[in-house]
Amino acid sequence: MRKKIVAGNWKMNKNLSEGLSLIEGIKSGLTAAHKGVDVIVSPPYVSLTEAVKAAAGSAVKVSAQNCHQEENGAYTGEISTGMIKAIGVEYVIIGHSERRQYFNENSASITKKINSALAKGLTPIYCNGEVKEERESGKHFEVVKRQMNDELFHLSAEEVKKVVIAYEPVWAIGTGLTASPEQAQEIHAYLRKLLTDKYGEAVAESISILYGGSCKPDNAKEIFSKKDVDGGLIGGAALKAEDFLAIIAAFN
Ligand code: 13P
Repeated sequence: MRKKIVAGNWKMNKNLSEGLSLIEGIKSGLTAAHKGVDVIVSPPYVSLTEAVKAAAGSAVKVSAQNCHQEENGAYTGEISTGMIKAIGVEYVIIGHSERRQYFNENSASITKKINSALAKGLTPIYCNGEVKEERESGKHFEVVKRQMNDELFHLSAEEVKKVVIAYEPVWAIGTGLTASPEQAQEIHAYLRKLLTDKYGEAVAESISILYGGSCKPDNAKEIFSKKDVDGGLIGGAALKAEDFLAIIAAFN
């Protein structure tokens, strides 16, 4: 069964007290109408420990935004999946386009990070998607296929079932542009077909595929109504409890 998931990626926003207020706002606004949706917040590293405590006992789960692939060692400034797991975090975003663009993240490191997260019992939220020029030249299917082949398809069926996929067209991130619900569905269906071809239908049908890219309260309902869209990875609109809650409520 595919889970419905709404995950907020806070990126480099919210200091500790601001982040805790946001979690309080989300917790207090969650109602029965939100039942059946997994709600995830992804604060910056320094707030993760307190975020886990603040979310404890509620429906809110916590994700890191990145990790390092090695267990420990001389990697100044980095954080390992074991460290993230040890403080009670359950998810980790891997392969976000901003990390690919600004921090030299590539298929080799993404693969290792996914392996490391799974080995420690964290759920990877694996991101892929094409840039504007690739979309405009009609290469978007080819691009996500290559990403899936290079970054995910080394996993066994048992492992891949533990991954959440987020399709994030780079041209729609933070730009106010959004993929139309039809464009989102078309790519999500394609990703699911790739999963089906590789792992079979039962596995493909058990994996949640989220849409990310200027998903807002006013467009979430239409996007989430599409057959192969199982939720969203939300940037800007995850920074206000009211907007984030409205996006979660879009499932009803
Ligand atoms: P926006 O919702 O701000 O476009 O960001 C999407 C995103 O990058 C989530 O990871």
